[in-house]
Amino acid sequence: MKNITEVLEWRYATKKFDTNKKLTDEILNQILEAGRLSPSSLGLQPWKFILVENVELRTKLREAGYNQPQITDASHLVVLTYKNSLDEAYVDSYLKYTADLRGITTDDLKSYKDMIMGSITSRTPEELKVWNSRQVYIPLGVMLTASALLEVDTCPMEGFDTNKFDEILGLNEMGYSSTAILALGYRAEDDDTAHYKKSRFGTEEIIIRK
Ligand SMILES: Cc1cc2nc3c(=O)[nH]c(=O)nc-3n(C[C@H](O)[C@H](O)[C@H](O)COP(=O)(O)O)c2cc1C
Repeated sequence: MKNITEVLEWRYATKKFDTNKKLTDEILNQILEAGRLSPSSLGLQPWKFILVENVELRTKLREAGYNQPQITDASHLVVLTYKNSLDEAYVDSYLKYTADLRGITTDDLKSYKDMIMGSITSRTPEELKVWNSRQVYIPLGVMLTASALLEVDTCPMEGFDTNKFDEILGLNEMGYSSTAILALGYRAEDDDTAHYKKSRFGTEEIIIRK
């Protein structure tokens, strides 16, 4: 079995997927679960992951994604979206869910609620959007790593028109916005980028010890 460094050396942003190879449901679900189980600031999970299975939708998304082939050719496509706003009703629903899960009352979580609301009300609506959109990169990273551990190839992507994606997927009506895509599948044998030497600055350059 590969160690984590070998796994991360193995993964690369796949440009050309083998259109004949598909993830099994079991593998796909493990990757989606890795996203769902990701941490978020205050535990608020301000995201939804859209698994786009409809072929016509994927064709439209490819047009809105500067015609990047991964959008249609990968086995599966996940669009990561963030919540456009956060309000007390959302916080209450999260705390009720948590309280029920843990067999406690929402009153027990009163000081936690105060902390969350303090954090939300100290931000402007625009700052809340930025904050939420940043959270989405955590499940993106977790799913990238989980995929690599499962020997699934991926391409994380930001190269697309978010407004068009939102429109095609009806995200505005849901109160969400697209921020990144995760294409999942298996590399084509002739994807030359698989053999590019990984370009990363050295450990001394990136890891600063003080
Ligand atoms: C947030 C994010 C957005 C990216 N957007 C694209 C994209 O739109 N298209 C693409 O082919 N690669 C995209 N990439 C892949 C990067 O170019 C790639 O990860 C980087 O060059 C390092 O190469 P490696 O992942 O193969 O090691 C993106 C990567 C990240 C993390």
